[in-house]
Amino acid sequence: MKKKISILAVDDDAAHRIMLKTLLESWGYAVFEADDGSTAFEKVREKAFDLILMDIKMLKVSGIEALDMIKNFNPAIPIIIMTAYSSVETAVEALKKGAYDYITKPFDFDKLKITIKRAVEHAYLKTENLILKKQIAESFDTQNIIGKSEAMIKLMESTSQIAYSEADVLIAGESGTGKELIGNAIYYNSRRKNNPFIKINCAAIPETLLESELFGHVKGSFTGAFKDKKGVFLLADTGSVFLDEVGEMPLNMQVKLLRVIQEREVTPIGSEKSYSADIRILSATNKNLLSLIEKDQFREDLYYRLNVVEIKMPSLKERQEDIPLLAGHFVETFNKKNKKNIKGITPEAMDILIKYQWPGNVRELMNAIERGVVLSYGGYLDKSSFSWISQKIGDTQNISETENNNNKNISLKEAEKRIILKTLEECGGNKTKAAKKLKITRKTLNSKLDSKS
Ligand SMILES: Nc1ncnc2c1ncn2[C@@H]1O[C@H](COP(=O)(O)OP(=O)(O)OP(=O)(O)O)[C@@H](O)[C@H]1O
Ligand SMILES: [Mg+2]
Repeated sequence: MKKKISILAVDDDAAHRIMLKTLLESWGYAVFEADDGSTAFEKVREKAFDLILMDIKMLKVSGIEALDMIKNFNPAIPIIIMTAYSSVETAVEALKKGAYDYITKPFDFDKLKITIKRAVEHAYLKTENLILKKQIAESFDTQNIIGKSEAMIKLMESTSQIAYSEADVLIAGESGTGKELIGNAIYYNSRRKNNPFIKINCAAIPETLLESELFGHVKGSFTGAFKDKKGVFLLADTGSVFLDEVGEMPLNMQVKLLRVIQEREVTPIGSEKSYSADIRILSATNKNLLSLIEKDQFREDLYYRLNVVEIKMPSLKERQEDIPLLAGHFVETFNKKNKKNIKGITPEAMDILIKYQWPGNVRELMNAIERGVVLSYGGYLDKSSFSWISQKIGDTQNISETENNNNKNISLKEAEKRIILKTLEECGGNKTKAAKKLKITRKTLNSKLDSKS
C-alpha cells in the first residue's frame, strides 16, 4: 500500500485544528497536530512530515518564528501559512522567508485542496528523486536550445524538472537571452502540453485593451464591446498562459492579476459572474522586478506569486563558450532560409564574435549571422562580414570596404532586407524599436524578415 502523505497542522485554536484534521483526513492525508510554534518544531525534529500547515498568529511562538526554525532545520519541507485577511502582509513576509504559499481564513476548501496538492508535488520534485529526474531529463526535448556551457546545462536541468511540476514560473533575463524559448520548452514538456498555451505581451497592448484581452468582457460593458469576449485566462483554461514582459503591466492590472492567481478565478469586465480558471502561469521579464518594487511600480505580493520558481537566463557574455556553437547553428539555419551555401566562419571572425559583448544576446548574434549570410556569396564568413563589430570592440585594424563591394547586383527585396537588418543591429536586436525607427509595424518587419530574398 502507498504510504499516506503526512501533514502537520499547527494552530493554537483547538476547534480550528480539529476541523482541519477532520477535513484533511477526509482527503486521505495522515494528520498530526501541534498547538504552537515550538511544539511544531519539536515534532519536525522527530518526524519527516511531507507538509506543514501553520497558523501565523499564535500566542506563544508565532508562525513566523517557527517558520524560521523549521526552515533552518529542514529547508525542504513545504510550509503553507494560514492567515486572516487582515495580516496578508505578514504572509508576504513568510513567503520571503521560504513559506511555499499562504491561504487566507476562512478557507475556501477547494483552494486549500489545490494548494496542498501543489505544495506536495512541488516538494516531491524538489527532493533528489534521481530516477524521476533522469527520466524527465531524457524526455525533455531540448533540441532547439543550443548551449553546452555549464550555465546552460544547469538551466536545462532545472527547466526539465520545473516543466513537469505545476509551479508558476518567472523567467528573468536580459533581452534576447531566450526567455520565450525556455517558456515554450516548459510548456511542451509539461503535463499541460496537450492543453491550450496562450501568449500575451503585456508591453505591446495598450492599457485600455489589455484588461479585456486578459480577463474578457461582456457585450455592452464599454463602448466598442459589441459582443462577449473571452479573455486569455479563460481561453487558456486547463492549459498555460505566457505573460511576456510582465514588468510592463500597469499597477491596476497587477491587482486583478493577483486575484486571478490567488483565487484561480476570473471576472470579465462588466460581468457579475466569476469563472474558475485552471491555469499555470509562465511569465517573463527583462526588467529587474525587485527594483521596480522599490520604485512602487510592481506589486511585491504579485512578485512572490509569480516567481514560485524563478529561472534566471544567463547573458551571452556569461557563456562565451556557447558563441561558436550558436553561430554555427545560425549559419545553417540562414543557409537554408536564404538558399545559400556558406561553409562556416573563419577563426579570425569567430574571435571577433567571441570578444564582443552582445548587449542584445542570442537574438543579436542571430541577426548578425543572418546579415552575414545574406551579404555573402559563398565560402566562409570572415572578418569583413562583421566589420561593424570590429568597430565597436575597437579592433579597427581589419575593417575592410566590405559592404560596398557586396552591394552590386542585389534585388530590391534584398536591399530592403539589408536595411532592416542594419536597423535591427542599431537597435540591439529589439524588433519593436527597429520597426518604430523604420516606420513600419512589427508585424510587417517580421514578415519582411521572413521573406526569401
Ligand atoms: N540557446 C538558444 N539556442 C538557440 N536559439 C536561441 C537560444 N536562445 C535564444 N535563441 C533564439 O534567439 C531569439 C531570441 O530568443 P527569445 O525570443 O526567446 O528571447 P527573449 O529573452 O524572449 O527576448 P526579449 O527579451 O527580447 O523578448 C529567438 O529566435 C530564439 O529562438
Ligand atoms: Mg521575449
